[in-house]
Amino acid sequence: MAPGTPFLPTISDEKTLRASFVRDEDERPKVAYNQFSNDIPVISLEGIDDQEGGRRAEICKKIVEACEDWGIFQVLDHGVDTTLVSEMTRHAREFFALPPEEKLRFDMTGGKKGGFIVSSHLQGEAVQDWREIVTYFSYPLAGRDYSRWPDKPEGWKPVVESYSENLMGLANKLLGVLSEAMGLDSDALTKACVDMDQKVVINFYPKCPQPDLTLGLKRHTDPGTITLLLQDQVGGLQATKDGGKTWITVQPIEGAFVVNLGDHGHFLSNGRFKNADHQAVVNSNTSRLSIATFQNPAPNAIVYPLAIREGEKPIMEESITFAEMYKRKMARDLELARQKKLAK
Ligand code: SIN
Ligand code: FE2
Repeated sequence: MAPGTPFLPTISDEKTLRASFVRDEDERPKVAYNQFSNDIPVISLEGIDDQEGGRRAEICKKIVEACEDWGIFQVLDHGVDTTLVSEMTRHAREFFALPPEEKLRFDMTGGKKGGFIVSSHLQGEAVQDWREIVTYFSYPLAGRDYSRWPDKPEGWKPVVESYSENLMGLANKLLGVLSEAMGLDSDALTKACVDMDQKVVINFYPKCPQPDLTLGLKRHTDPGTITLLLQDQVGGLQATKDGGKTWITVQPIEGAFVVNLGDHGHFLSNGRFKNADHQAVVNSNTSRLSIATFQNPAPNAIVYPLAIREGEKPIMEESITFAEMYKRKMARDLELARQKKLAK
């Protein structure tokens, strides 16, 4: 490999984890990647569009309960074509298997929008995540920069376009249910996003020599409205319960999407719907692939509760834009990391 090429975990056969990936003890995994839990609700969406029968009401009730209790659940019978899902997965796998110089043609370092990045980490953050990612900005359409979309293996473009469109539809359906649960018109949450952004992040977590010391993706809540995550059968997605005290590993289910509610969804529901607290762990046996589709409001969309129930106070002091909400979240993360470093 040429000198100066970034370290790619994919092609590493090192026996010991590099120091830049080693996490403080309190951040390390508590539960194994394959010690699965069935606690997260699994909901079939079969019949969600039948306004007449009782099935829609039943599905809506389950989704609302899952959002109130967890902010994370899995959906089956979601209507996204299985061939499309497997094509998306195949392209992703083949991309990460390319030689480094091919992947690095799309290197995003230096502020480029979309493409490939290694072990991405927030600016100023000391510890790296054990992953490689490739990112597509898929909506709004005007924001698509095809020059940043990888071209190998062949056929990415139509597959990503179709996948993006299908997932936008599924997200709007789920937001419709949550809007109705808030006593609003079914398009209320979609409208509150102004012109909904969508970003697809494909995570590749290579085999790791010392998985107990590191994370594939550090603990976080997603900033946006809702995230649809496709994961393979390996396992590694973990969520918290008991107010953040206990970790569980989400059971992978063939063909399911994991749905996470993000900070925007949490604020708009005045805290009624939880923003899922989650992370990804890695392992030494096998690599893992996940595809996260983030449905975010436009940067200028206003963040403030849409419905405040009787007896509740607004959980926000002022309305702010989504861009400002995101900036404050990043600043808070950096400050927490700084304080942690000082305390050492
Ligand atoms: C994410 O939180 O975006 C990805 C989590 C996972 O890979 O399971
Ligand atoms: Fe996430």
